[in-house]
Amino acid sequence: MSTATRPAFVPTLPRSLYLETTNRCDSECQTCIRTFLTLEPPADLTLEKVKAIVEQFPALDRVVLHGIGEPLLNREIFDIVAYLKTRVPVVLFNSDAVSLTPKRARRLIESGLDEYRVSMDAATPDTYMKLRGVDQFDRVVANVRCLIALQREMARPTPRVSLWLTASRVNLDELPAFVRLAGDLGVGEVYVQRLVFNGFGLATEENALHGRLREREERVLDEEARPELGHRAPRLGADDAAGKPEGRGHGRAVLGRLPAAVDPQLRHRQRQRAALLHLPVGRP
Ligand SMILES: C[S@@+](CC[C@H](N)C(=O)[O-])C[C@H]1O[C@@H](n2cnc3c(N)ncnc32)[C@H](O)[C@@H]1O
Ligand code: SF4
Repeated sequence: MSTATRPAFVPTLPRSLYLETTNRCDSECQTCIRTFLTLEPPADLTLEKVKAIVEQFPALDRVVLHGIGEPLLNREIFDIVAYLKTRVPVVLFNSDAVSLTPKRARRLIESGLDEYRVSMDAATPDTYMKLRGVDQFDRVVANVRCLIALQREMARPTPRVSLWLTASRVNLDELPAFVRLAGDLGVGEVYVQRLVFNGFGLATEENALHGRLREREERVLDEEARPELGHRAPRLGADDAAGKPEGRGHGRAVLGRLPAAVDPQLRHRQRQRAALLHLPVGRP
């Protein structure tokens, strides 16, 4: 709702809360504003502050714990999640998984986190280095593999782990291999999100795909990623379902979408957070 049409008093309490648990980071993503601009001194949210904030929101359905920064670097992240889980149905965050040691993976599972989204952007070390700015592809792959193995060992279905790719001209060709990588790791979901461009690094208009897919790129989305998805393969498209102009604007928009019949939950999730594509790869 635009500020022009938003009433001074809203009839319902907020259901969704985004908290930037830290603004520190251990990656140097070439698409991320944080790599190029320092807007504030380094700081972490404490559990105490989280409690003080959350107590003011009695009707929350979910809390998202990332802003610009890597949540795993906050020493209290697991305690923050565990506290939130006593009050809020769904707690989740995106992460680069660089510092997801086996010990942290265990704590993550034990914290009760509902969803852990691993931002990888690449299926090869070279492209990972180019986009994420650090030479950590193999480490992240090993960390995610370990997390999944631990989850199985502990017989815990949560957190739901997914791999995320911010799509651009740099990495779209790797989407089929990215889906295969997810399958190999035992990760059940892959999401492709739109590149928001700001002119810094690789976050440029030339690299953006949203609303400007070339024939070759449409083929990657529509045909080449599909055989990797098995019989539940969604029909992937390139429509601008969010109707937003260009690559600017808040959050993410839809690049292609699943028919509701394939995943009725998706429509709801698209409204909530507008992931670009959702490719259920199935757990082996
Ligand atoms: C800013 S990060 C914070 C959480 C964590 N550090 C991570 O990378 O997942 C949140 C998400 O934004 C994505 N991202 C980075 N640059 C982006 C851009 N220019 N457009 C859209 N998403 C971007 C990241 O890949 C990640 O999935
Ligand atoms: S890991 Fe996340 S916060 Fe850090 S630079 Fe990359 S996208 Fe930005």
